[in-house]
Amino acid sequence: MEISLIGAGNLAWHLAPALETAGHHINEVHGRQLKHARQLISNLYDARTHSDLNFAESPSQLFILAVSDDAIESVCSQLVLPEGATLVHVSGSQSLTSLANWIDIYSDVPVHTGVFYPVQTFSREQPLIDFATIPFCIEASTDTTRQLLIQIAQDMSPIVYTLNSEERLRLHMAAVFACNFTNHLLAIAHDLLATNNLPFDLIRPLVAETLAKGLNTDDPASVQTGPARRRDQTTMGRHLSLLSTQPDLYSIYQLISERIQRESV
Ligand SMILES: NC(=O)c1ccc[n+]([C@@H]2O[C@H](COP(=O)([O-])OP(=O)(O)OC[C@H]3O[C@@H](n4cnc5c(N)ncnc54)[C@H](OP(=O)(O)O)[C@@H]3O)[C@@H](O)[C@H]2O)c1
Repeated sequence: MEISLIGAGNLAWHLAPALETAGHHINEVHGRQLKHARQLISNLYDARTHSDLNFAESPSQLFILAVSDDAIESVCSQLVLPEGATLVHVSGSQSLTSLANWIDIYSDVPVHTGVFYPVQTFSREQPLIDFATIPFCIEASTDTTRQLLIQIAQDMSPIVYTLNSEERLRLHMAAVFACNFTNHLLAIAHDLLATNNLPFDLIRPLVAETLAKGLNTDDPASVQTGPARRRDQTTMGRHLSLLSTQPDLYSIYQLISERIQRESV
């Protein structure tokens, strides 16, 4: 399939080469900053940068909106697509209805709409991620578009789900707890260790084992350990004393500890 990408950020960096490896052809990449689009196409077969959002003459059939969630409407308001093209966003939290409404409002020609959401975390300039293990969540405004998107997802991964926008939003919220918050807690631990001249290496094996155990069980609560799980009030009190000058960390520690104790009955 002939594909154009709008957005040259973290997700586009990984998705574009994966689509090419799966046998698709990236024609054009639009980046708000030309240098980002240029960097991205240097990893692609023969894609060109596309400086504006007028794709009326584009040979592509599929247009992937890989811009920040909050930029989708403003990009749609400037986008000119060929008649009958398919436009998808890749967001966990934006609804299909919003995209379809914006296209209704702003596009002069009929365009099919859909969602093509890969459940993974992507960062630019990291080694390319293997999409074969990544679940894709598909949603579309018509059966034909849904079948098309399922086929393209299956070209990259055997794990393809059809979720509606409400289910995808709830999945995304759960993923924020599991992924984004976990990483932020790691960053807190890193800073607490660094402040005391202790190396992050001291906890790497502990973190690796904790994540492996949690992922290899049906219910991560069943492998919870630590002072809150044991209800060691003295230990928790000593930790809270150490955090007495950092009210936000004090609150996070207290809130999560109380929740672990309530859930560990
Ligand atoms: N990263 C992930 O882990 C991940 C995972 C799953 C889904 N997603 C979804 O992927 C989409 C892109 O996320 P990302 O992480 O790749 O974001 P990102 O790294 O911040 O990249 C966003 C891209 O959008 C462009 N952009 C932002 N505002 C724009 C505007 N007003 N007009 C035109 N272009 C604009 C940026 O241009 P510049 O290059 O000029 O900054 C950049 O190319 C989002 O819908 C996100 O929910 C991301």
